[in-house]
Amino acid sequence: MKYSLSEQEIIEFNNVLEPYLSHPRIREMEQYCAHGRISVLEHSLDVARTAYRLDAMLGKKSDLQVLLPGAILHDFYLYDWHDRPLSIHIFRMHGYTHPSEACRNAAEIFGVDEKTQEVIRCHMWPLTLRSLPRHREAVLVCLADKLCALRETIQR
Ligand SMILES: [Fe+2]
Ligand SMILES: [Fe+2]
Repeated sequence: MKYSLSEQEIIEFNNVLEPYLSHPRIREMEQYCAHGRISVLEHSLDVARTAYRLDAMLGKKSDLQVLLPGAILHDFYLYDWHDRPLSIHIFRMHGYTHPSEACRNAAEIFGVDEKTQEVIRCHMWPLTLRSLPRHREAVLVCLADKLCALRETIQR
């Protein structure tokens, strides 16, 4: 995506995410694989950067205290999904269940508000059909996640 962040934007981005990135439960995501050799933490940072860039390109109208925590916590499910036994029940598969697990962890560990929880719960839409992203921050993270997952899968 052709949008270079200014020095001021990098500072703003880092300031919002600093309390999360220094937290041991966030660092735990370094151990788990997202796509290819990319860890869940790298993927989540990539999603946060992409969502921030999309927001900047579309007029900077997002609440960054929702957008960026939502992005960094969207896959905060805290396990390696490759180690999970395959379920024959489609609605118990990782793709369906991990948004609510990530949301529960984010609420328990960081006490994130309802709007941020919605960003996390809705990021897999349209797979999770009933969890439709209904506000700007949720739409941007949902879109950023797909762009990053595609790029990470192609590049591996
Ligand atoms: Fe996800
Ligand atoms: Fe993701």
